[in-house]
Amino acid sequence: MGKENDGDSASPAFKLVGFRNFVRHNPKSDRFRVKKFHHVEFWCMDATNVARRFSWGLGMPIFAKSDLSTGNIVHASYAIRSGDLTFLFTAPYSPSISGDSAAPKASASIPTFDLAACRAFSASHGLAVRSIAVEVEDAEVAFHTSVAHGAKPSASPVILKGRAVISEVKLYGDVVLRYVSYKDDVESLEFLPGFESTTDEISSFPLDYGIRRLDHAVGNVPELGLAVSYVKAFTGFHEFAEFTSEDIGTSESGLNSVVLGNNDEMVLLPINEPVHGTKRKSQIQTYLEHNEGAGVQHLALMSEDIFNTLREMRKRSGIGGFEFMPSPPPTYYDNLKKRAADVLTDDQIKQCQELGILVDRDDQGTLLQIFTKPLGDRPTIFIEIIQRVGCMLKDEEGKTYQKGGCGGFGKGNFSELFKSIEEYEKTLESKRISETTAA
Ligand SMILES: [Fe+2]
Repeated sequence: MGKENDGDSASPAFKLVGFRNFVRHNPKSDRFRVKKFHHVEFWCMDATNVARRFSWGLGMPIFAKSDLSTGNIVHASYAIRSGDLTFLFTAPYSPSISGDSAAPKASASIPTFDLAACRAFSASHGLAVRSIAVEVEDAEVAFHTSVAHGAKPSASPVILKGRAVISEVKLYGDVVLRYVSYKDDVESLEFLPGFESTTDEISSFPLDYGIRRLDHAVGNVPELGLAVSYVKAFTGFHEFAEFTSEDIGTSESGLNSVVLGNNDEMVLLPINEPVHGTKRKSQIQTYLEHNEGAGVQHLALMSEDIFNTLREMRKRSGIGGFEFMPSPPPTYYDNLKKRAADVLTDDQIKQCQELGILVDRDDQGTLLQIFTKPLGDRPTIFIEIIQRVGCMLKDEEGKTYQKGGCGGFGKGNFSELFKSIEEYEKTLESKRISETTAA
């Protein structure tokens, strides 16, 4: 692709080439070893309530805590999990309890937590993601390597009870990329040192709707070129995919997007920017206004059985869970039969229609996807539930695994939805005309 990154934000060498011209190539250029997504942390003002809402809505039991009951007088943190996906919710306690001196601060299980920053963050962004955490081989090396290649530091490496290390660099807006690494013998560790297991408390009420891991975490930024150049420069991540407003076939989408991936393409970080001058305001611009700047737009959660996950989640939409965006018109599913009959059975297409699931394909596989409505008060962060079909490979030990990003990210659905809505509106029009004529 001939795109170089010198980390110079004043003259980014990054340039969009568009979906058609984009040549997928994995240079395996990571600057340090990134193993996988570790967790996603939300900052909020009351972690108990937010954690329980997400737990119920997504079928992810609370499995670890660090709060007053465990001796933490700085912040309340609750971790929920389903398969390899972990969300962490953190809220501050009163400074009159935690104070500013070093001694009480020592009780914080996340020592990078900053009370004033958390309060300012919540006031500015509402409910939002503070950190995307990746497990790396060595969080100290990752931090110093990143900073040496232009990353803005957020928190220097801290060793947690001699068993794990965390460090943070700025990603975009007020979001940080958190590095987590473990020392040896962590078999007994549920999450991070300082957290206590709550599994006994929840064993009587197991929750599991089939969500298994984080597939991708998407950010919205005002300027894509600057953000992509910055992140590429310090992580060494490569461009896994990109698309522009023109590629999508409808200017209504109002966005340009680049997906960055690590060496094994299991840590995928798409970044969007708004495109201006379209009939409707770009949804990315709306996000940036409501979020007061850049931030995490959506988290794509991979399900092992999207039909089951959707049935469970939809049951709870009206009783404390998450609601979904309106389903596409029937014309979308008429067209889907032509587009995906070789991959999905008639029954599966019927279930997609019943549950409002969208389907897209790329040159390698098929993507089933659906989006929730915004998770909180503001039209900002939402969740995508996905299942990928195809691209099964074997590793060196002969174990089968699915290639990251198989089936793409739903680019084709922009134009498919647009087309099916147009077709559907035409059917309504002709119905109206025939009714008028009949009258
Ligand atoms: Fe997505």
